[in-house]
Amino acid sequence: MNETSKTRRAFLKDSCSVLAAFGLAAYGINVAGCDTTEEPTDGITISGKTMSIDLTIVTALNADKGFLMSNNAKAIVINDGGTFRAFSNVCPHEGNPVTSFDGSQIRCVHHGWTFSTTGTKTGVAQKNLTTLAITKSGNTLTVTLL
Ligand code: FES
Repeated sequence: MNETSKTRRAFLKDSCSVLAAFGLAAYGINVAGCDTTEEPTDGITISGKTMSIDLTIVTALNADKGFLMSNNAKAIVINDGGTFRAFSNVCPHEGNPVTSFDGSQIRCVHHGWTFSTTGTKTGVAQKNLTTLAITKSGNTLTVTLL
C-alpha cells in the first residue's frame, strides 16, 4: 500500500466516522466509496431466516438511493427509485462483504467488482449478486435471508 492509498483510506474512514457520529452511516446513508461497516440495530429485527426493517425508524432507507448493510443478516437493502431490493452481501468473487452503494452501483471494495441496482454484474465482475426476496407491508420491509 502506498502513502496515497493510506491517506485516501484514512480519509474515507474518518468521513464514515463523522457520518456515524451523526447517525447517518449507521442507517446506510451512503457516500461514494464509503465502506459502511457500522451495524445498524434500531428498527431491525433478525429472526431465523427473516430480517424485518421498520421504516419509521430506519428512515434513511425511505429515500431514493437509500442503503442498508447488515453483516449480521449478511444482506444489503437498497431503495432504487422507490423499489426496495435486497441481496446477499456475500461477494460472489471471494466472499467478502459487499458494503458500498453510490446510488447507481453496488460495489465490493475488496477487489472492485461492481453490480447494477438489480444485482447484475458490471465492469470486471463475473457473477451476479444473490437476490433475496423482499416484501413491504405498511412501514415494514421483510427480507428472506439465505
Ligand atoms: S471479494 Fe468482492 S471483489 Fe473480490
